[in-house]
Amino acid sequence: MGLDEIDLIDGRNFVHGVPYHWFAELRREAPVYWHPEAVAPRGGFWAITRYDDCVQVNRDWEHYSSARRGSLFHEMDDDQLAQQQLMMVNMDPTMHTRYRRLVNKGFTPKMVRDLEQQIVGYADGIIDSVCERGTADFVEEISAELPLLVIAELLGVPQEDRRMVFDWSNRMIGSEDPEYQIPDTDPGEAAMQVYSYAEELASRRRLQPRQDLISVLLDAEVEGEKLNELELDLFFLLLIVAGNETTRNLMSGAMAAFFDHPDQWELLRRDRSLLPGAVEEMLRYVTPVMHFRRTATADLELHGQQIEEGDKIVFWHTSANRDESAFENPDTFDITRSPNNHIAFGGGGPHFCLGANLARMEIMVMFDRLLDRIPDIRLDGEVERLQSNFINGTKHIPIAFAPSAPVGGAPVPPRAR
Ligand code: HEM
Repeated sequence: MGLDEIDLIDGRNFVHGVPYHWFAELRREAPVYWHPEAVAPRGGFWAITRYDDCVQVNRDWEHYSSARRGSLFHEMDDDQLAQQQLMMVNMDPTMHTRYRRLVNKGFTPKMVRDLEQQIVGYADGIIDSVCERGTADFVEEISAELPLLVIAELLGVPQEDRRMVFDWSNRMIGSEDPEYQIPDTDPGEAAMQVYSYAEELASRRRLQPRQDLISVLLDAEVEGEKLNELELDLFFLLLIVAGNETTRNLMSGAMAAFFDHPDQWELLRRDRSLLPGAVEEMLRYVTPVMHFRRTATADLELHGQQIEEGDKIVFWHTSANRDESAFENPDTFDITRSPNNHIAFGGGGPHFCLGANLARMEIMVMFDRLLDRIPDIRLDGEVERLQSNFINGTKHIPIAFAPSAPVGGAPVPPRAR
């Protein structure tokens, strides 16, 4: 196969599974590969696929900027970019450091520990809502629910509104996938709806502050100035998208991996002390966020390739986490793997995932409850994957299991459609 057959842009190439064979070939043959893309500056981007290089690009923010052209794959015009640059994920230090400080205190290990009992209650409530039936759609009814309930709780979104949040984030992230598109609407419209929702919520909190992140952000100041309306809206949008899609798709992808590897499920069921390590392996093996983008701030050289200032750089966590030079038998799903220095949350630079502690807790709790309550869970149809080159996503996983009685978990309010 020639490298010119590789197309990492078209989401349809990810719909039957991540094209790991392409990434393996790139790591071997062209670890810094000039991938054509008509709309990109200079007609292409550099695809970075080896573990060590992805870590370097992540950490060296001075040469690989998130701010210059944003951190998402798609190209933006200057107006869009100016708006996106108000979002922390599209900033560089020191501006980034100031914004990150605002929300850091909402995501400390202590704050996550304080949420643990609530997360357990929600996980049980979610399983309660399906356990008597003996069948469910794992994605819609289980893995999507927990992150939604938790992020709604953190942000102060009334739980009844979380269906809207689910739809908006689907439409923004899955905008390429026909199932999540609404005919004749633009994904940008979903963002506009999020902004007006955030403003409405903010005006309620201005009158009646609470212990939620929206109230914290309303009070927050950067260099003596309060966040303006747009900055607040963008924070809200970043948190709902980042907090939802990622964790949901991790749980769904991991469940699918367990269906392919029933021995690993059995191992975990018998020995729950393996759970923390198993969560790390789920993160490595699934890698829900497949890439992020940077822009070169200077002329650089990497593996003999001349990168020009302004070039688009896309580094692939999904490839780094399967790099044979960093992991033994990287394509094997092994919940006892140790060490496991995956970069599913980023390679350790300034943008390292803000929600990593929270996500780990949600995943751990959900699998612990599933293993206890529906240990005989099995695939009952076909796994339907998302069409996207960004999120390693799953839309539906029909499951079946022996019906059982609810245990009285936290009531899960219905999601108004
Ligand atoms: C399995 C779950 C998750 C995965 C795999 C994941 C992955 C990532 C990655 C790779 C980045 C780096 C972005 C970059 O390099 O530009 C990131 C950043 C971020 N994540 Fe997560 N994430 C997860 C869960 C969450 C959750 C639950 C939240 C919040 C509730 C969250 C909030 C954020 C935010 C706000 C950023 C931007 C941080 C910054 O720019 O400083 N993430 N995440």
